[in-house]
Amino acid sequence: TEPLRVALAGLGTVGAGVIRLIDANADLIARRAGRPIEIVAVSARDRSKDRGVDITRFDWIDDMTQLAHHPDAEVVVELIGGSDGPALALARATLAAGKGLVTANKAMIAHHGLELAEMAEKTDTPMKFEAAVAGGVPVIKGLREGAAANVIDRVYGILNGTCNFILSKMEAEGRDFDDVLAEAQAMGYAEADPGFDIDGVDAAHKLSILASLAFGTQPAFGDVAVGGIRDVVAADIAEAAALGYRVRLLGIADLNGEGLFQRVHPHLVPFANPLAHVTGATNAVVAEGNFVGRLLFQGAGAGDGPTASAVVADLIDIARTEFGPPYAMPSASLAAEPAAPTGDR
Ligand code: NDP
Ligand code: HSE
Repeated sequence: TEPLRVALAGLGTVGAGVIRLIDANADLIARRAGRPIEIVAVSARDRSKDRGVDITRFDWIDDMTQLAHHPDAEVVVELIGGSDGPALALARATLAAGKGLVTANKAMIAHHGLELAEMAEKTDTPMKFEAAVAGGVPVIKGLREGAAANVIDRVYGILNGTCNFILSKMEAEGRDFDDVLAEAQAMGYAEADPGFDIDGVDAAHKLSILASLAFGTQPAFGDVAVGGIRDVVAADIAEAAALGYRVRLLGIADLNGEGLFQRVHPHLVPFANPLAHVTGATNAVVAEGNFVGRLLFQGAGAGDGPTASAVVADLIDIARTEFGPPYAMPSASLAAEPAAPTGDR
């Protein structure tokens, strides 16, 4: 079977994670996708940087935009970041060339998602961005597919791993804001400019994407009221705890008769609410559907492994769509999977 051949832009936390994941799970991915997924070309700023993975087996391309024209690649994975600049140039060139696009770039999707989606539709090309919201948590697939039959009028949750890591470590370990932020950066959770995390902008990017999917509206990042956690001090957290609350940065979007309301701010969350117990770089998204009721999507919201998991899930979707087994049901090609354990259900 012909592999799905991929060009990869960006070899940082997430890009290197994608290479590691494809190396580690190649056989399983090939079975589930119906064909292997193979990286053929890569690009980043610095060719000589040690990335902890062997990149000498891939074609190195200096001019990143040229990945869109690589003769062997059917899909480009953009893991550079930034709403404009080289990421956007590459995304446009990729879709204009009729190649599939997978990205984890919420800033770009929040600002230019509509334009890119229109380009993708025009050329009938897949464009996927599961990793752009809530890292490894399949919330975009959950809303688009699992909850597709529902009217959703509210979606909200913890959308930034770095902020949740800082707030929960400040509370549990009595640590300093700057010290915990430095740890989040070292773990690969934070954006290249961590101001996007701590000022609430990253969560607002994600909220505008979620709201657009949940309500079928255009992404409206400019309409999100945004506040961050920069000014939260240990005394605020202690006082909240004494009153039975935890401080969490929440993004909330409601659609009601008066319109769409989107806001990101630190909130006081009562201990009885499950969101108060979400700690570390975990994200949790709640969506309320008129038939399914309340859905909670929760899991690792940042970091190399979880984010790579979402990126590669998008690649598997693309590989399946064209040549693979039927999308919805396990098929004979999955017979080699270990049997599910049996037991009390
Ligand atoms: P990193 O900063 O770790 O990596 C960015 C990569 O892009 C690096 O390889 C860098 O090259 C390359 N790059 C940056 N600027 C340029 C440029 N101007 N020209 C060429 N190459 C460039 O970022 P992450 O891997 O953390 O994030 C990548 C994307 O994934 C971002 O959109 C981010 O928002 C998103 N994301 C990240 C998550 C995370 O947990 N880290 C989670 C979910 C989404 P070089 O290495 O040579 O400097
Ligand atoms: N900087 C982001 C966060 C990465 O901390 O949530 C995942 O989108």
